[in-house]
Amino acid sequence: PLIDRIFNASNFEKDLAKKLGIERAIIVPGNSDRQERVFEHVSEQLESALDLLLPLGKNIITVLGGSTVAKAAEHFSPKLNRYRELLFVAGRGALGESVEIQSNTIAQVMAAKTGGKHQGLYLPENVSSEALDILIKDPNIANAISNIYNSDAVVHGIGLADEMAKRRDLDVITRSKLREKGAVAESFGYFFDHQGRLIDRVPRIGLQLEDLGKIPHVFAIATGAEKAPAIEAYMHHAPKQTWLITDEGASNMVLKGK
Ligand code: F6P
Repeated sequence: PLIDRIFNASNFEKDLAKKLGIERAIIVPGNSDRQERVFEHVSEQLESALDLLLPLGKNIITVLGGSTVAKAAEHFSPKLNRYRELLFVAGRGALGESVEIQSNTIAQVMAAKTGGKHQGLYLPENVSSEALDILIKDPNIANAISNIYNSDAVVHGIGLADEMAKRRDLDVITRSKLREKGAVAESFGYFFDHQGRLIDRVPRIGLQLEDLGKIPHVFAIATGAEKAPAIEAYMHHAPKQTWLITDEGASNMVLKGK
């Protein structure tokens, strides 16, 4: 069964977790750059890992956006909610990117698939700090933010710097500066170079990277050989309790540079 697979890490998985300095790595077969079915395995592994780690009873799971997390939600089932009351909370306001990959939508999909509940965070991403001060006093928003910080688990993606800069509508000059400085990864609004050095930061509302360390279970979901440098770069900042769910495409690349 899948749960035994998760308990018993393979040598590759142990090597990968060790190299990245995190608690656990799960490697699914294939390379998502070429094989869409990889996401099915990722979804199953994420569901099983959550089932293994989450306590019974009430649980809050914060979900970030991106296409990988969106696809990872697709194969969730009522199994996870059987002895639990799950609340999926969006970790970010809308990003101005397509609806399917916004965290609000993904939280909704996960809730629908498991039979849990969801809570949205409906905030524009780019507001003045004056407007924000007023917005975060709204009881619904204040409640969502408090749930985010009291989460039992977080599920997030790791993006390619260039792609995320485009998706987040950064202007051409900022984008070429990012490229010049060697940015390879983006997560939580931070851009990192190959060695994990901070290149730039786009301030965001919602869960911050600095606060991730306080969340008991953190799942980073990123696959495909192309994402190997981004995974390595981000992992310099990942809290120790992170579980990475990835595929052979990415992990072979990371382990090659052992
Ligand atoms: O938008 C949230 C996010 O998790 C980003 O922090 C990350 O860079 C991105 O999604 C990953 O998106 P994708 O899975 O589509 O590459």
